[in-house]
Amino acid sequence: MIRPTSVIAIDGPAASGKSSTAQLVAEKLGFLHIDSGSLYRAATAAMLRAEKDASKWTEAAVLNAARPVELRAARTSFYPLLDGRAIEEEIRGPDVTRNVSRVAQMPRVRTWVNDKVRDAARSSDVVVDGRDMGTVVFPDADLKIFLVADSRERAARRLRQRGTPTSEQMLDDETIRINERDARDARQTVPAADAVVIDTTGLTQQDQVEQIVSLSKTRSG
Ligand code: C5P
Repeated sequence: MIRPTSVIAIDGPAASGKSSTAQLVAEKLGFLHIDSGSLYRAATAAMLRAEKDASKWTEAAVLNAARPVELRAARTSFYPLLDGRAIEEEIRGPDVTRNVSRVAQMPRVRTWVNDKVRDAARSSDVVVDGRDMGTVVFPDADLKIFLVADSRERAARRLRQRGTPTSEQMLDDETIRINERDARDARQTVPAADAVVIDTTGLTQQDQVEQIVSLSKTRSG
């Protein structure tokens, strides 16, 4: 079957710069960006509204809580709505970040996310980012990128993004949190055999974006 739209899949571990890079690549190419992690986060936020105690969560309860989540297209990206409202701030909060990997282990939740992402990609050219976009969701993507970076560097980027003053201790703590999330997500965070692996440790975001845009032009030209 010939797919009518183009897909660029960008995968990698937590805080590897996937989403911001994917967004900029999408803008440069006139594609739409889909952040698959935002759907795992939206399902987690919906579940947290229903039940704060994560030890009581079941797959059926998460799927039920996530029913009012939809993926809406804006000018340059898709974003999740819950009960028709944008939930960007809520899904980036510490409660969601702490619990999202648990939700992402649930096989039917993974199917729910994958269906929504594939649906969105049916009508537009997209840059999708996540963990398993190039392996499971779009095994025939036009271009697959896997971003890696040293975990301390990723922690430093996360703290810089927050824009608040930081200490060595905060950097140590954030590095531990990122290493823990890497361990929880390890099973689904594997590069596709045909992915281009880019180590972004010493790269600026502009370098990463240019490399990916130029790879995509080489592939399509
Ligand atoms: O990309 P982000 O860190 O926002 O993703 C949040 C969480 O969602 C990850 O820690 C991971 O558990 C899960 N995830 C996943 N597969 C994806 C995208 C995200 O398991 N494709």
